[in-house]
Amino acid sequence: MFHDGGIDAYETAEAPTRAFVLHPDLKSAKARRLPEHGLAEAVSLAQALPGMQVLGAEVVRLPRMQPGMLFGTGKVDEFKALFKALEIDLVLVDGPVTPVQQRNLEKEWGVKLLDRTGLILEIFADRARTREGVLQVELAALSYQRTRLVRAWTHLERQRGGFGFVGGPGETQIESDRRAIDDQVIRLKRQLDRVVKTRELHRAARRKVPFPLVALVGYTNAGKSTLFNRMTGAEVLAKDMLFATLDPTMRGIVLPSGRKIIASDTVGFISDLPTQLVAAFRATLEEVLEADLILHVRDISHPETAEQSADVNDILTSLGVRKTVPLLEVWNKLDLVDPSQHEALAVQAGNRAGVYPVSALTGEGVAALLDAISLAFDEEKTERLLTLGFAEGKRRAWLHGEGVVLSEEQAEDGWQINVLWTARQEKRYREI
Ligand code: GTP
Repeated sequence: MFHDGGIDAYETAEAPTRAFVLHPDLKSAKARRLPEHGLAEAVSLAQALPGMQVLGAEVVRLPRMQPGMLFGTGKVDEFKALFKALEIDLVLVDGPVTPVQQRNLEKEWGVKLLDRTGLILEIFADRARTREGVLQVELAALSYQRTRLVRAWTHLERQRGGFGFVGGPGETQIESDRRAIDDQVIRLKRQLDRVVKTRELHRAARRKVPFPLVALVGYTNAGKSTLFNRMTGAEVLAKDMLFATLDPTMRGIVLPSGRKIIASDTVGFISDLPTQLVAAFRATLEEVLEADLILHVRDISHPETAEQSADVNDILTSLGVRKTVPLLEVWNKLDLVDPSQHEALAVQAGNRAGVYPVSALTGEGVAALLDAISLAFDEEKTERLLTLGFAEGKRRAWLHGEGVVLSEEQAEDGWQINVLWTARQEKRYREI
């Protein structure tokens, strides 16, 4: 799939790929998280790929980045001996690696090397289930590959400049590779447009089903799929794998109160998502824009639960849903919290509205959560007669899309529409 190779290493190998994870701790980078937690996340990411055997992992302090090999020569030699002794095939570097550095290190260490973007792309590719997800991942992979080609090309050009000739087989090859990539990007974008249109049709059809949509969001590994499973009894991939859900999965649920909802599981958030992947990731979150209620699932036992929560809230704010869609916080993995802290946690949760401590694994607290979800939709509904002009087709379509129309009559200058809606729906309507 990639020009630089390395990607197929573990796909074709029958024996597990012997991998080593390095987390460069760049002094200049803004240190919001502890490097050790970054390393742990990178190891989990690596383990999310099938056939991967992680034999070791290390934080590498980097006072500054070395352009040629990323790491200093002392470190490069030290790892060379270690990788040889451990018979490492694949080194995952949890950070950006330039194509030049990648080539040099692969040669020096006699291994394949993947950087963070490459690794996340692999996981996305492995997990993408819908047509749209697959297309988006391909698109992101192509743009990643293209930047690598461009950079490699600039590098070659500089080398060649000294000899005073232009062109040459290398450059021609890269030029045509770039053109091939551009063509493919155009093709993929066209396909994606079509898929998105179909999805909009599906959505419009779904909105006719008068059940509220509940979207589960949260940091990767927070336990969304496990909770989703517990809520729905449906089978989704709930295992200790990051990104078990790349594309939103939806299920209809009948809550104990009898209320019917549609629950939608979304792909997990991740810290420092490489920029090329942000668009693909956001697109997978589009369901959230349509949600009537968001469940923010948090791993409350994680040492960086507060930072993770801040990340999630930032993205929700940037998607513009933080103010418009009501949200419940689910403090998951209660069973992993020391019992001596349960009371303090309960007090903390009790002090804030809309917080529910649960264990998706044991089921503790889930009943209370389901009641809260049900209650969130038990809003009072009022009936109202609206008069809409013919120019207000968009508002009329919105009303139908929301499923609030009781009856409709066409008058001389527009429509008379009788609706039954909640105060929240009315507010949203007034903003159209
Ligand atoms: P992504 O798909 O990566 O976004 O992950 P996710 O948020 O869907 O997490 P998932 O449900 O796959 O759970 C991740 C891991 O946490 C799995 O090993 C679960 O078994 C475990 N887990 C989930 N909920 C709980 C819980 O309440 N307690 C404990 N102890 N483990 C849990």
